[in-house]
Amino acid sequence: MLGLCATIVKLSAPAMPTNANAEAAWNYHEVTKHSYTSVRTNPHFLDFGNQPLPFKIYPALEPSRMPTEVRQTGVAALSAIACSVPAQTNAAPDLEAVAQLLYLSAGITRQRKYSGGEIYFRAAACTGALYEVELYLVCRELANLQAGVYHFAPAEFGLRRLRDGDYRSVLVEATGGEPAIAHAPLIIVCTCTYWRNAWKYQARTYRHFGWDNGTMLANLLAVATALGLPAKVVCGFVDATVNGLLDVDSQREVAFSLVAVGHDSDLSAQTSPPAPTTPRTLAEISPLGFETVPLSRDEVDYPLMREMHAASSLHSPEEVATWHGRSPRTHLLPPAGPLVRLQPLSDAEMPRDPIEQVILRRGSSRKFARTPISLAQLSTMLDRTTRGVPADFLDPIGSQLNQMYLIVHAVEGLDSGAYVFHRDCGMLESLKQGNFRDKAGYLGLEQQLPADAAVDVFFLADLRPIFERFGNRGYRAVQLEAGILGGKLYLAAYGQRMGATGLTFYDDEVIRFFSPHAEGKSAIFLVAVGNSAKQKP
Ligand SMILES: Cc1cc2nc3c(=O)[nH]c(=O)nc-3n(C[C@H](O)[C@H](O)[C@H](O)COP(=O)(O)O)c2cc1C
Repeated sequence: MLGLCATIVKLSAPAMPTNANAEAAWNYHEVTKHSYTSVRTNPHFLDFGNQPLPFKIYPALEPSRMPTEVRQTGVAALSAIACSVPAQTNAAPDLEAVAQLLYLSAGITRQRKYSGGEIYFRAAACTGALYEVELYLVCRELANLQAGVYHFAPAEFGLRRLRDGDYRSVLVEATGGEPAIAHAPLIIVCTCTYWRNAWKYQARTYRHFGWDNGTMLANLLAVATALGLPAKVVCGFVDATVNGLLDVDSQREVAFSLVAVGHDSDLSAQTSPPAPTTPRTLAEISPLGFETVPLSRDEVDYPLMREMHAASSLHSPEEVATWHGRSPRTHLLPPAGPLVRLQPLSDAEMPRDPIEQVILRRGSSRKFARTPISLAQLSTMLDRTTRGVPADFLDPIGSQLNQMYLIVHAVEGLDSGAYVFHRDCGMLESLKQGNFRDKAGYLGLEQQLPADAAVDVFFLADLRPIFERFGNRGYRAVQLEAGILGGKLYLAAYGQRMGATGLTFYDDEVIRFFSPHAEGKSAIFLVAVGNSAKQKP
């Protein structure tokens, strides 16, 4: 009944493996692949009586409400997703900006009743609308917000204060002195809760951590840009220290990424040491012991995910410092097939719908009209999505771990078929021509959406150099990057009044379809884009 790698909750601490030996990541990836057979032999079913709560609730802590007015920056979504504020720009968010960042990345933007209750849809797409990513703030004193560690409560649109005072030095230590963190007035910590997503997706949930955290970060980075705030995603940190600062039960909930927001050139780990009373290491941080409401009647544990997490954990600031540094070379071979040059819209021609409006109207398309989009629309999406993500694992900025492979069904001026996107020269290389609608539907786990879309964008990665360079933690990075790029694709589509949806897929069959070009690579994520069709009531 429980399916893949499950045991009823009995949480034991896994042995401590090393990050450098990527066997755990290879194993996790292999075991959690979907195939025609695996989906048919998996006896898992959804136990709605045991569905997890969509929110983390601290019953003893009163949230303080945040301002709900959305500030209109007027910055076009297609600009906001494509650029970032230079890292050294001095800027700090006030409470209103914090509220805006949180609302437009993880706030409740729509709700819908159904027979079993109510779904609270959030600003960013998330597998199964299960919302396993929680956000915490670690900040110095900001305008209208005291220094502290806070949990974001989307249901109340408020903040619950977990610790009083400035704890950023703990994160500076935990990230091995990462400069963006050392200079940031605010650090947002994203955690992921296994059971909230594994209730439906079982052990594959660890992949979803990257995807769902990533779509949220696409929004967060774009809103930070629109607000004039530099922001950087940080994946390298001592896990136990960050989890200890938040006092999460790390058998159930784990820090997955940090985002440094804002910059203060006067602040630095070197130039302004924290007050001697401020704890910097895990040993000096006292546990909080706040009660939280259980998510479900029972939880099912998938030890494989905790093993994957432990194997990709970093244990000291020194280990983090070596983990940081240049990205592996993941370039494509030079094009060998026929080429089509992208024709993106210029700044003057581009739709200027502001980022706030685009995020609020975003939703995952539930049905695509089989109508064509233009080559300019597709080009604009690809171009704007891939102009670089500020992240500690993408050095120099502009590096990318995933490659984009496309199945084109309906794009004016482009033959239907399979393509690979050469970002460095703005070209699509044709791999094969033909009508692959049925095939795409099959590859996207036999769903109608990828068959009806105008284009299916597959994220594929060569995991070998990534694991070689980043060890098991490279798996977190590559999934997170795909989620961020996928989230940007959503915004680029909705910014041009099209639709999009994330999708899951048959891993090995995707690689076979794009081979020989894709031989040796792994399927990481899939986003379908096109014109949304009105669904029949
Ligand atoms: C990573 C990812 C994978 C998804 N996979 C599927 C899928 O396989 N099939 C599907 O119908 N929707 C899929 N979705 C869409 C989600 O169901 C949708 O995001 C969620 O219900 C929240 O709704 P919203 O995006 O409209 O806000 C996926 C979304 C994401 C972010």
